[in-house]
Amino acid sequence: KGGKLLILPGDHIGPEVVHEALKILDIIEESTGAQFERDFDLCGGRSLDKHKDSVTEAVLKKSEEADAVFFGSAGGPEWGHSQPNPESGLLRIRLRMQIFANLRPCNFVSKSLVHRSPIKEEIIKGVDFMLIRENCGGAYYGNKIEEEDYGCDPWEYKRSEIERVARVAGALAMQHDPPLPVWSADKANVLASSRVWRRIVHEVFDKEFPKVTLRDQLADSLAMLLITKPTAFNGIIVTDNTFGDILSDESGGLTGSLGLLPSASLAGAPAAPGSEPTQGRNNAGGVRGLYEPVHGSAPDISGKGLANPAAQVLSLAMMLRYSFNMHREADVVEEAVAKVLDSKEDGGLEVRTGDLGGRAGTREMSEALQGEVRRL
Ligand code: NAI
Ligand code: MG
Repeated sequence: KGGKLLILPGDHIGPEVVHEALKILDIIEESTGAQFERDFDLCGGRSLDKHKDSVTEAVLKKSEEADAVFFGSAGGPEWGHSQPNPESGLLRIRLRMQIFANLRPCNFVSKSLVHRSPIKEEIIKGVDFMLIRENCGGAYYGNKIEEEDYGCDPWEYKRSEIERVARVAGALAMQHDPPLPVWSADKANVLASSRVWRRIVHEVFDKEFPKVTLRDQLADSLAMLLITKPTAFNGIIVTDNTFGDILSDESGGLTGSLGLLPSASLAGAPAAPGSEPTQGRNNAGGVRGLYEPVHGSAPDISGKGLANPAAQVLSLAMMLRYSFNMHREADVVEEAVAKVLDSKEDGGLEVRTGDLGGRAGTREMSEALQGEVRRL
């Protein structure tokens, strides 16, 4: 068990929370005998300082060869005028790794979170869905035209691009018994690319995932329903790059805290337990992927020991699950986060960082998490 990790700790709070998350990985190695080879390198601002580029060719090559990339947020105001900008490093890694499926879970790992959501408790309670955003195609890529009085972004999708992301949704749905329902969000009423998207997603599900219930949902009405009736989408939502960008930020906003949101970007569909992925397989028998928190590098609190390590730790759990098939260990890490966040609710001590209204620092929160992982 285990494999080869490329660790890119990033800037500001990136290295602070990556450091804490790796302590959890140490505990998992000790208790399971798994071994993770750790190669640390640069991406973002620190790479700009050292190599005058946001990511080097050597790092891009390593990111293709690693079983998984564990990424800490990059960037900050000191590189505000740099060319290229520090965030471009991540975009180049994404393209090189062909990690076309961006997964963002939206669930309430903790009771305490429900109170922090901007949405009323009775509406938000029990929300549990995974949003999958197509991340290598659509309007964000292709031949753009930018003139003085004219701009154009071709919004294109090829069959192969739609099929592969539909398969990620289907495969994730099938990891549950009974399979989770899937919603495909598009604008087939106005966009040709959406009509093609809709037809091909249905073809894939009819042929490869007949047991999964697939429904179409217009992306604009989904934006509203996620606020008025989010539990109606418990399951999986799959959507294109543009809609996914907006809807994933919206779904992140539902939880009320940036410090708790993980993400995964995968190069293929994860396999069912006991079988092998058919695309994007790594040498560890999982799928190649990059794992990072949704939040940025938080320069306003960096160096003060205040950052919440939970999102980075939850990203580690996603990595164990999808890139290393360590499902049980992933569950243990997620349960540990829930336990720590709920400690006060359950009559224990409050161990929460400032973003959650608490007084704990990064170290305290991390130590509490380590303690829970050891106990579970
Ligand atoms: P941000 O997410 O870094 O911060 C927004 C607010 O949330 C700040 O008040 C920050 O203190 C707080 N926050 C974020 N993460 C937290 C944590 N773990 N614990 C406690 N509080 C936390 O977003 P912002 O300020 O817009 O961006 C800062 C830098 O990060 C920029 O240079 C931006 O480009 C970069 N960034 C990088 C990303 C990446 O590497 N994938 C993603 C988003 C932003
Ligand atoms: Mg966005």
